[in-house]
Amino acid sequence: MRDIKKVFVAGSGTMGMSIAQAFADKLYDVTVYDISEASIEHGKKLLALNQEALIKSGKSTPEHSEEVTEKICFTVDINDAKDTDFVTESVVEKLEIKHDFWANLSRIVGEDVLLTTNTSGLSITAIAEAVKCPERFVGMHWFNPPHIIPLIEVINGDKTDDANAQAVYELAKALGKKPIRAKKDVPGFCANRVQFTVLRELLHLVEDDVVSFEDADNVMKYGLGLRYACLGPFEIADMGGIDTFRNISEYLFADLDDSKEGSPIFRTLVDEGRLGVKAGAGIYDYPGDKADMAIKERDEKYMKVCDAIL
Ligand SMILES: NC(=O)c1ccc[n+]([C@@H]2O[C@H](COP(=O)([O-])OP(=O)(O)OC[C@H]3O[C@@H](n4cnc5c(N)ncnc54)[C@H](O)[C@@H]3O)[C@@H](O)[C@H]2O)c1
Repeated sequence: MRDIKKVFVAGSGTMGMSIAQAFADKLYDVTVYDISEASIEHGKKLLALNQEALIKSGKSTPEHSEEVTEKICFTVDINDAKDTDFVTESVVEKLEIKHDFWANLSRIVGEDVLLTTNTSGLSITAIAEAVKCPERFVGMHWFNPPHIIPLIEVINGDKTDDANAQAVYELAKALGKKPIRAKKDVPGFCANRVQFTVLRELLHLVEDDVVSFEDADNVMKYGLGLRYACLGPFEIADMGGIDTFRNISEYLFADLDDSKEGSPIFRTLVDEGRLGVKAGAGIYDYPGDKADMAIKERDEKYMKVCDAIL
């Protein structure tokens, strides 16, 4: 295990701020960096909201929460990364922006400092083109909200030294997470490929008027999702019988949606400004305080499920 004490988190948005809390919860010294004071203020608000929810759910105490909050400091000066032991980046998902950030940052920190990006799907290898000493650059993909969801995908870029990817994996375990290794840098890594396979099929079934959005969500929440929280698809196949799963796959695979274009439903919703909870409307409506309530209820449910399965 590397001796990591100081962590530099780039981006104080939805992901960065929650990742900062995952580290501070284990009492790492965390510096959160963003480009503007306004973004930092937004990050502080997210920190307070998340800590309040953790205390309310009994997951933290006011004392521990205060300790966590004190472990996090904020800066708009990237040079404050100089003495850090580890970097995790959650800046906006644009290759040029990530390149600018990493070209700068990787020349400020020591040459053996582990550098990780939380990109949702950009190529780790492509981001690494801007990084000085790319063998220490690793994909570390967290899931929203990172201070609650246990899964982290650890991804090798083409130039990543496997020992460094393994060190990131061990660090994720030390944070109490359930990391997995993606040994190749494929688009969407593992989890987003599965998530978008499910979405493509369900969007197809809604477009084809087989099910409503609500029923598609219910299929996942009360059937498949519930099972997947307890058993993986391969464990479920073993339970169901591989012969039965083979028979189903032989007639069903050919009928599944395999469109190569993005979804027309998503395109229309975006054109209408229905961007989801953050816009007060998406596939469903979130008027008034319903958006904040939806996020709160989501976090409470996730925490209860984590309690049941971990
Ligand atoms: N939101 C999710 O569910 C999710 C899940 C996994 C991974 N990610 C990835 O995490 C990253 C951040 O996503 P988010 O949802 O937190 O976005 P966000 O918009 O909430 O936050 C991004 C932050 O980056 C800051 N920023 C922009 N340019 C910067 C720079 N050059 N240096 C430092 N900070 C800069 C912005 O001011 C903002 O505060 C993206 O790469 C995204 O794909 C997001």
